Parts: sequence; structure tokens; C-alpha cells
Amino acid sequence: MPEKYKKVNQIYEGKAKKLYTLKGYQSLLLQEFKDDATAFNAQKRGEILNKGIINCELTTFIFTYLAKQGIRNHFVKQISPNEMIIKRLKIVPIEVVVRNIAAGSLLKKTNFKEGTLLSKPIVEFYYKDDLLGDPMINDSHALAMKIANENDLKVLKQMALKINLILKPFFLKRGMKLVDFKLEFGKDITGKILLGDEITPDTCRLWDKKTGKKLDKDRFRFDLGGVNEAYAEVRKRITGK
Ligand code: TMP
Ligand code: ASP
Repeated sequence: MPEKYKKVNQIYEGKAKKLYTLKGYQSLLLQEFKDDATAFNAQKRGEILNKGIINCELTTFIFTYLAKQGIRNHFVKQISPNEMIIKRLKIVPIEVVVRNIAAGSLLKKTNFKEGTLLSKPIVEFYYKDDLLGDPMINDSHALAMKIANENDLKVLKQMALKINLILKPFFLKRGMKLVDFKLEFGKDITGKILLGDEITPDTCRLWDKKTGKKLDKDRFRFDLGGVNEAYAEVRKRITGK
């Protein structure tokens, strides 16, 4: 790590990342990506080879691309293979999921069969709370809990749908269908909402365009085998490495 950024305190350790404060930079944080993988609210645990490096590279690449397309986000710069500098945000405790094709938990809430193309994207909110197991909530739940206001919810939905419009062709050009994905947002010191967290095969379902092969964390979640290879393949298709 260049002398310029000196880690001070670890302020958060999640399932896949750690966050540190930095000496002399009040409004920035260092985000470190781990190889650890968990699923089903950490009931299943493991490691994915080079995941920290791969997810740091992919998030760098995708957030840089999104910024160029006008999506405000927390990414500042990558400073090592698995570390990046980000803007410090006050996280909105809502996970925003966008779905283009039926898969995953949608199959338990609807009669859609896996692989059904949805006529328009579905946007869902989940309350970020490990003890509750991140339950799905609607706008009224979010307003009642005062975790977001009406305008925040409108911005979250608008930004999520715009990101979907940008990322669908981005992945398709690289031979992958963007089935669904999860986003997190936060507010900067001025109160503006920015995209935060990461966009990686941990947080997206990506299916090979031709064969339909799953190239994401579902290989780990459901013991499909070839987990490391899938992450390496996505890395190659996006970064060329
Ligand atoms: P789901 O079908 O299990 O609800 O997942 C929808 C999308 O959200 C999928 O692309 C995986 C991603 N996701 C996360 O990033 N973190 C999570 O904790 C969960 C449950 C899903
Ligand atoms: N990462 C989440 C967990 O461990 C869930 C998932 O991605 O499936 O709970």
C-alpha cells in the first residue's frame, strides 16, 4: 500500500469485506475484499480461490464504467490487488435486488420457472439485518422503520433500474446474461445517494449466453462444482486477465 494511505482502525468486518478508516482522510475509507464465501446468512462457509482479488478488480472495472455512464458511486481508486479507496457513506440499510430472469428466491415467491424471461424487471427491497435474516420489505415497511424516506426509495429504484439498463448490455457483450443482482446505496456528507458496496459474481447471477452455464456464486451456494473456475472465467471475460 502506498505510504499515502495508512490504515487506522478496522470499523467493519462483513462476510466478504472489511472496512478501515484512513489516517488524514475523514471522508474516505479503505475497502478490503476477502476470499471468504458464505451463503444462507453464513450457515454455509468456505473460501473461493483469489476471490478477494477478483472481486476487487471486477468492482473497480464495473464502478469505473458506471461512473462514466453517470452513476454516482463510492469508488475512488484501487490501491492493491484486493484493496480500494472508497468514499465514506452512511449506508441505507436496504438491499435492492433487480431481476431480469426468474431464479433464486423469486422461485419460492411466485410460480415462475427458473429461466423465465420477465416481461419487465422486478425491483425488490430487503432490510439489511442479519438477525432477521435480511427479510424482504416494501416501501411502507421502510417508511415505518424510518430507514429511508419517500424520495430515497424513489432514487433507489430509479438508480437500480438505470444500472440494470447499463449492465445488461455490458455483460451480454462479454457473453453473459445478467439474471439478477443486488445493490447497496449510501449517502455522502451532502446527503446525496451514491451506489456503494460491490458488483461481483457474489452479488450477481450471471449465466453464459450460449450454454446457460452458471458463472456466479450459485455454484458455491448449491455445490455445483467449478466455483474457482467460474470466478476466473468472469474475471477473464471482463478484465482480460
Ligand atoms: P435471491 O434470489 O437469493 O434473492 O438473490 C437475488 C440476487 O441478490 C442474486 O444475484 C444474489 C444476490 N444476493 C446477494 O448479493 N446477497 C445476498 O445475501 C442474497 C440473498 C442475494
Ligand atoms: N452472502 C450471504 C450470506 O452469507 C448470502 C448469499 O450471498 O447467498 O448470508
